[in-house]
Amino acid sequence: MGENTLTGEVFYPSFDFLGEPHIRDRAELTAEAEKDYTGFWARHAEELHWFTPWEKVLDDSNPPFYKWFTGAKTNIVYNCVDRHVLTARRNKLALIWEGEDGEFRSLSYFALKREVCKFANILKSLGVEKGDRVTLYMGRIPELVLGMLACARIGAVHSVVYGGFSVEALHERLEDSKSKVLIVADGAFQRGKIVPLKEIADEALQRAATVQSVLVVRRTGQPVNMEQGRDLWYHDLMRLPIASSSCSLEIVDAEDPLFMLYTSGTTGRPKAILHTHGGYMVGAYTTLKYVFDIQDQDRYWCAADPGWITGHSYIVYGPLLNGTTSFMYEGAPTFPYPNRWWQMIERYGITILYTAPTAIRGLMRFGDAWAERHDLSTLRLLGSVGEPINPEAWKWYHRVIGRDRCPIMDTWWQTETGMFMITPLPCDPLKPGSGGKPFPGLDMDIVNEEGQPVAPDEEGYLIVRNPWPAMLRTIYKNPDRYVEQYWSRFPGVYMTGDSARRDADGYYWVIGRVDDVIKVSGYRLGTAEIESALVSHPAVSEAAAIGLPHEVKGNIIHAFVILKTGVEVHDQLEEELKRHVGHEMGPIAKPQTIEFVESLPKTRSGKIMRRVLRARALGEDPGNLATMED
Ligand code: WT7
Repeated sequence: MGENTLTGEVFYPSFDFLGEPHIRDRAELTAEAEKDYTGFWARHAEELHWFTPWEKVLDDSNPPFYKWFTGAKTNIVYNCVDRHVLTARRNKLALIWEGEDGEFRSLSYFALKREVCKFANILKSLGVEKGDRVTLYMGRIPELVLGMLACARIGAVHSVVYGGFSVEALHERLEDSKSKVLIVADGAFQRGKIVPLKEIADEALQRAATVQSVLVVRRTGQPVNMEQGRDLWYHDLMRLPIASSSCSLEIVDAEDPLFMLYTSGTTGRPKAILHTHGGYMVGAYTTLKYVFDIQDQDRYWCAADPGWITGHSYIVYGPLLNGTTSFMYEGAPTFPYPNRWWQMIERYGITILYTAPTAIRGLMRFGDAWAERHDLSTLRLLGSVGEPINPEAWKWYHRVIGRDRCPIMDTWWQTETGMFMITPLPCDPLKPGSGGKPFPGLDMDIVNEEGQPVAPDEEGYLIVRNPWPAMLRTIYKNPDRYVEQYWSRFPGVYMTGDSARRDADGYYWVIGRVDDVIKVSGYRLGTAEIESALVSHPAVSEAAAIGLPHEVKGNIIHAFVILKTGVEVHDQLEEELKRHVGHEMGPIAKPQTIEFVESLPKTRSGKIMRRVLRARALGEDPGNLATMED
């Protein structure tokens, strides 16, 4: 189909090539991938280092437990760090970091290797061995990146818990993963205030028993409790001879676990998504290379948090695999003023900015002038991720930040997919609000209740029909739940949990979750977790959480609460319950509003009908009530 036949509002590509772009025409890559899917991935895998080559690219003998690059030996850290130190990239900056307070640090690839090795030796001295789990709970500081790489270097499995989570969220993740070591910062700067991470961790540790050692990184400097025999200062250990700057690298199997990352699903507790060294590496490397056209001169900034998959794949692993210079910023976008981001783009000469619609909408509120007074001419590509971007925010981003010349890569993917799945390439015509088409080779579709493909413009379930290298391998310790959650609704097909439609040009438009997952400011939360945080308060008997639309955050949480008999509603109760959820789960999970009710609409089998609650809160027609209990 020729470009001029596209329907709707279309933006044609025009961007600054830095040298030869990796791709000039999507059709080339698509044709190659469709002709020989495993050969396509093998060709990209060959650009990375393997200590022993694979016997098979894809082992699909036991679906849905797919394996990639079987028989191969590698280590993602070798490809992220060691490999570059052997070339001219040795002196290139791997990481540029700015603290919210204006502190500045940078690390060359050489320095990155040294620091990772020292860190890895510290972990070894604490008894961490291959396969052990290590939890990291910190703000956006370089030690988080170093800690993740240090774990991977010695074959330990990292589990990063987002710094915005709180006591109970951290406790259950520590306990479920049976982490041996916790790496925590004393605190994190956020909007000029200190989030007391160590204090929160101390409370979580009282509830969890498996952690043997706690490594504490000093960032905010306030006094913290250090428990004798358990807690150790990172900077103390870094000065000891054990923290040698040479540390052998564990050569691992392509299918050995690299990390686990907890995310919310339809029911129950958060589940740990498991990713491996080999396939994940190939997926993160290849997708970042093409989608953001990574070139040696780039200074790339993914403004997400390393505590989420976006940070794992596209702050830490993808950029380092591509040998690029990454920028990382610790704090809030509007601190101290709404021009903070634009100032840093100008100061560091950022060429690629990758962020979330909620951040764009939040900054858009302050008007154009804050961005206009900065020189943003180094930018050449923009990105968006986390939730659908409304065309109005897309156009503002394109005009005011991209100055009408930077294509926007609206990338759809998930914790589970590990890599971009639906995404434009820089050479594609763009439609504001659409992520474009599946990455070359992916067989994705939109189907109805019966699993049949829907007609153009019709809404349906978004699915993936073929395996991909960075796919999750399982849910940690729970293979049954893996099969049940992702592969059972339509047998043999991966269920994303999203609904979408596809227009006549083949462009995908993601609508949102079809399950009980709420996206608040792009953060993925399960109604079950919010509800159990509410119910853990002594006044609450039952609770139901729903998402309601919000202009900046995408969704906000609205909770319905049934109080225990004898508990009276009083003025401070709503505030108290919100505070309680904030303390247990984290500030991001706090309901915006709480409504006290006498009963909740349920199905005859006792399931809360959130659809009915949502309709009631929005003043809409609740639809079919046939399954509702009287
Ligand atoms: C869910 C996954 C993977 C990065 C961050 C989120 C939604 C993600 C988009 C997008 C529309 C999007 C989906 C998906 N989502 N990116 N570009 N357009 N929706 O990872 O926390 O695992 O959440 O985020 O609903 O299922 P996650």
